[in-house]
Amino acid sequence: MGEIERLFGAAAAARANAYAPYSGFSVGAAIRTPSGAIFAGANVENAAYPVGACAEAGAISAMVAAGERRIAEILILGEGEALVTPCGACRQRVREFASDDAMIHVAGPNGVRASFTLAELLPQAFGPGIAKAHAP
Ligand code: THU
Repeated sequence: MGEIERLFGAAAAARANAYAPYSGFSVGAAIRTPSGAIFAGANVENAAYPVGACAEAGAISAMVAAGERRIAEILILGEGEALVTPCGACRQRVREFASDDAMIHVAGPNGVRASFTLAELLPQAFGPGIAKAHAP
């Protein structure tokens, strides 16, 4: 099985468990790290709407909890006519652990619909290199 198929399968499995009773919009995300490990997440909404978390945030948490720190590529899976590209906050979350040329794949139920580099989705990003250079 290819890397994209593995990512798609992991994102689909996570998406099946999404908790999205308010929007009805289930999303799954899966990250591949340089080690080849895959970490998935689903969106988790909340009665207090702003407290909800995106699928990408869950996948990143799973990656960090397992002791990994680099995103080689990420796939986001959602339904609908429009591409389910990551929200602005999640682009920044991905930036923390990925380089400008990391691939972000946007998928629908039938497979990947579009692929972007992180730099395409978050140009001129503020990243950890800048912040760490100023850390005391
Ligand atoms: N959502 C994600 O989980 N990831 C995205 O990339 C787009 C949006 C979620 C947040 C919310 O639970 C629902 O989709 C509707 O916005």
